[in-house]
Amino acid sequence: MDNGRSGTRITLAPWRTSGAVDRGIFGGFVEHLGRCIYGGIFDEGSSLSNDNGYRLDVLSLLKELRLSVLRWPGGNFVSNYHWTDGIGPAANRPSRVELAWGALESNRFGTDEFLAFCAELGVTPYICLNMGTGDLAEALAWVEYCNATVHSYWADRRRANGHEGPYGVPYWGLGNEMYGDWQVGQLSAQEYVSTAARWAKAIRRLDPKARLVSCGLNGWSDWDRAVIDGLVDLVDLHSLHVYTGSKDYWENLVSPYQAERGIACASALLGRAAYLQRAKRAPKVAFDEWNVWYRTDDGSLEERYSFTDALAVATYLNIFIRHSHQVSMANLAQMVNAIAPIVTTPHEAVPQPIYYPFMLHSVSHLDHAIDVSIEGEQFDAPAEPAGRWGHRLSDLGPFPFVDAAATTDSARGRITVTLVNRRPDRSEDVELRLTDLAFSDVNRARALTEETDHSKWPMPDVAGVRLEDCDVPAKGSVAHVQLPPKSFAVIEASMASD
Ligand code: AHR
Ligand code: AHR
Repeated sequence: MDNGRSGTRITLAPWRTSGAVDRGIFGGFVEHLGRCIYGGIFDEGSSLSNDNGYRLDVLSLLKELRLSVLRWPGGNFVSNYHWTDGIGPAANRPSRVELAWGALESNRFGTDEFLAFCAELGVTPYICLNMGTGDLAEALAWVEYCNATVHSYWADRRRANGHEGPYGVPYWGLGNEMYGDWQVGQLSAQEYVSTAARWAKAIRRLDPKARLVSCGLNGWSDWDRAVIDGLVDLVDLHSLHVYTGSKDYWENLVSPYQAERGIACASALLGRAAYLQRAKRAPKVAFDEWNVWYRTDDGSLEERYSFTDALAVATYLNIFIRHSHQVSMANLAQMVNAIAPIVTTPHEAVPQPIYYPFMLHSVSHLDHAIDVSIEGEQFDAPAEPAGRWGHRLSDLGPFPFVDAAATTDSARGRITVTLVNRRPDRSEDVELRLTDLAFSDVNRARALTEETDHSKWPMPDVAGVRLEDCDVPAKGSVAHVQLPPKSFAVIEASMASD
């Protein structure tokens, strides 16, 4: 077709589920890094903050994202963080040299402030342990402080600091990126496995309900293989991190498929190890750091996002949904100021373009991921990726111009479809075809596009978006939507027997 429009057919099989969607995939991550915590979520002196020092404008933007889980305090930061510095009266807390990002850590925001913030936001806390300069005793004390119900030393310290009952923190990360030469206390895979195994066994004795997360890399590395083989029966989740991005439009849009590669490789390794070792079950993947990130590499990481980045973020989430049977947690890194969907000034908090696809995905997706098949024109990935990590992508293509994921409720009465049109200059006619069921109503259809009028941007350097309703005529099992060029669309519809 060359009339400025092209066509894609998407077949949706509501009864063919590819797994229950774990709301854990709509997770976030906040690290003591640049202005993420201080001046981001926590700003005691600000007139915009409540009595606890939480910025209310930030809180309300975060609430709209309907986050499920929040990881803290790092990231690289955690590998030289001593949590005991951050409890008790603020005036007595020491300032420490912070080795990951070269800052000074005041410790004004610590464990109790984080956990109260999670309660305020209505999210499940996920704490990553210090395996760099920290030892097992310190890790156990942290779990005891948060979760113990008895009158032990650390549980009583928690009570003395104002929290009578246990916090019940379920998720504990066994170190952050311990493979990296940028990590304080970097370990070899062998050292990591033996340390993490000792820690896992001891933490489980203290708190049998703890859900432990092993530190993986990208999913396809030898590190992942060694860690999975060594810890498969001791952990609940295996974590992966992938950051992508490029000045090249096409590469930026398709590099999130590296996450799909990571999920596929890690899941195969997890399944293999679980089978060979007769483990009770294979751990699932926690994609506990992911985002577009390629522009900044200083101590603040104040990346300014483009609309193309927003489409990449939408694609990441489509991928996590399509792999619902393998991925039970994913954490957008990070939430405020540092590589984040929200930017603050002393006077306001505004969303960046990547905020919107996350919000739209999170508020509209339903319980079961379903099979989606896409028939349409395809393109190849650029042969030479220019991105930050320089991994090749071309073997993952060709890619359809339209990316899609879909979910339904258990009764198959409702369906949500999320679509990314990667064509920069053409609209795309998309036919949505249901197998076995018919559309009874299109309840809502919205398209997110780039705001090209800079005068409508929320801040001079923070790009804007447009969110408009779109028309989705439906008859029987077929619906049509015309996706604008370079857009993300969410369609929410009701279904009935045909
Ligand atoms: O999110 C920024 C950094 O990226 C984290 O501190 C680290 O874990 C990763 O390398
Ligand atoms: O090159 C390693 C990366 O660089 C780390 O993930 C990040 O923390 C650092 O900025």
